[in-house]
Amino acid sequence: MKFVDLGRQYQRYKEKIDPAIQEVINGSQFILGKTVEELETALAAYVGTDYAVGVGSGTDGLLLALMAMHLKPGEEVITTPFTFIATAEVIALLKARPVFVDIDPKNFDIDLDRLQDTLATRQKAGAKVRAILPVSLYGQCADMDEINEIAAEAGLVVIEDACQSFGARYKGRMSCGLSDIGITSFFPSKPLGAYGDGGMVFTDSPETAERIRCLRVHGQKARYRHEEIGINGRLDAIQAAVVLAKFAYFEEELRARQEVACHYTELIGRIIPEIQPPMTMPERTNVYAQYTVRIPGGLRDQVASFLKREGIPTAIHYPVPIHMQPAFKDLGLGAGSFPEAEKAAGEVLSLPMHAFITSEEQEIVVNALSRAIKET
Ligand SMILES: Cc1ncc(COP(=O)(O)O)c(C=O)c1O
Repeated sequence: MKFVDLGRQYQRYKEKIDPAIQEVINGSQFILGKTVEELETALAAYVGTDYAVGVGSGTDGLLLALMAMHLKPGEEVITTPFTFIATAEVIALLKARPVFVDIDPKNFDIDLDRLQDTLATRQKAGAKVRAILPVSLYGQCADMDEINEIAAEAGLVVIEDACQSFGARYKGRMSCGLSDIGITSFFPSKPLGAYGDGGMVFTDSPETAERIRCLRVHGQKARYRHEEIGINGRLDAIQAAVVLAKFAYFEEELRARQEVACHYTELIGRIIPEIQPPMTMPERTNVYAQYTVRIPGGLRDQVASFLKREGIPTAIHYPVPIHMQPAFKDLGLGAGSFPEAEKAAGEVLSLPMHAFITSEEQEIVVNALSRAIKET
């Protein structure tokens, strides 16, 4: 059994994917160009933003978004400690400071009360807070309206890290289009994945879109004329072709993912009620980039080892909160700084999840999980 079975997906879509790749090779336009533009147009229309800009990865997209808002060394960006490293890494790369806010254990996203407290404390201390960077973790949106409201009052930019939530609905609107800037990732295992790295930045601001287009090609406006320091952060055409081919099936895949999640939740509720399945908050849909359960009682690692012995792959998203990563030791935030994030890091376990897993395979996973709980 695979954690994400990209082979099965390829077999289903091969007829669309193969000629799409071949067409790029035939046209020899490998960097940016027509296919990237076509994808940008299609995804901007899907999300409902005025602009979409293809970038080299989700990480590049986050970095470019912060560069586009002229984030300066010493300035601060509020974010969550319970995410993939890239979210906080890009802040540190620009020599700005990530300020963490603990999570709401229900949806693993930034807790709103703590957000307000932290913002007030940082402002009182005279810090230059510039942005809030919530993460729509595991496939459902953070509390974007409330976050936007808090940000508007304080004059901050909101950047949604939507690397796991492309396609998720929030009060009838789409993830990536809910704040000043939204970024997604086409990492191969994401719900809409390429066959290599890729990402997309979404915005309604013509200035932001224009700046990101310029910054993704070394700050170049005209050929070999560099207005400012940028990066090589372009989406390549073969990846765009793969994403575009898969996009034709995306809504169908999302429905399948939701059915898979429903089946897991129903089986878990029936067989192992002591395990907490993921909760989808009201007025939201979940694209289940991960189907992540919580295993309390300090059993998680033993359960994961048991499942591995049974041939069932699992993953931990994420075992070490960002503030406890060696890379961020200079922030001086040790254990106990963000108790909810630390607790979640010790309890979460992601189960095999993709649109093509069969119900029989899901039953094998849940039965093994049930035995693991009883025997560990
Ligand atoms: C929450 C989050 N942020 C950022 C990223 C970075 O995306 P990429 O791997 O495309 O650089 C990822 C992808 O793994 C992610 O899950």
